[in-house]
Amino acid sequence: MRGKFITFEGCDGSGKSTQLRLLSNYLTEQKIPHIFTREPGGGKISEAIREILLSGKNMEMTDECEALLYAASRVQHLSDRVEPALAEGKLVICDRYVDSSLAYQAYARGLGDAFVRQINDFALKNYLPDVTIFIDLSPEEAFRRKHGADQNDRLELAGADFHDRVYAGYKEVAKAEPNRVVCVDGKQTPNAIFEEVLRILKDRNCL
Ligand SMILES: Nc1ncnc2c1ncn2[C@@H]1O[C@H](COP(=O)(O)OP(=O)(O)OP(=O)(O)O)[C@@H](O)[C@H]1O
Ligand SMILES: [Mg+2]
Repeated sequence: MRGKFITFEGCDGSGKSTQLRLLSNYLTEQKIPHIFTREPGGGKISEAIREILLSGKNMEMTDECEALLYAASRVQHLSDRVEPALAEGKLVICDRYVDSSLAYQAYARGLGDAFVRQINDFALKNYLPDVTIFIDLSPEEAFRRKHGADQNDRLELAGADFHDRVYAGYKEVAKAEPNRVVCVDGKQTPNAIFEEVLRILKDRNCL
């Protein structure tokens, strides 16, 4: 039987990696066959695309090129890692996926939902996760966590605006696909969030 495909989404520092670590321990303990992966990356070609995307030498890259490269990297990663593991009946857990493109490229960069959905629908042939966990934490709260509540250090202004748009984008994505995207309150303790994650995955027959 085909495995289930689960993705984790949320703003930078919202607690995705923390939950993935807890889930990793749980799945290993329960001897549930699974793979963890992340975007962009997970193979020679996707890693090469990642380097182009992240390189400081490519400052003149257009927003459209950025969105297309993310979609290109995604389809290669899907074919290299995700599809084979699902075919073996494994649970596939991915740190970020198509919703990151909607939040970052469609909303925060301003390319628009229609364009980003169109290129991703083409690249992924509507290949969507069975469940997406959106860890709902504002960029301000994530930033406070990282730098301590007592520092009045602040995200650099343009950066803060960008991250606020990413957060608003995620909210729109969650509203548009409530059956797939499940919101979890990111202000709770890591263990409380993880209990909710387990409950959601069990309810959706992923565990
Ligand atoms: N529920 C929580 N309550 C308090 N602090 C947390 C919680 N979850 C994670 N943290 C802390 O917040 C910081 C960011 O968490 P984490 O690295 O898991 O986020 P992330 O979403 O993976 O970030 P990035 O997008 O940068 O990869 C870490 O210092 C982590 O220990
Ligand atoms: Mg992380």
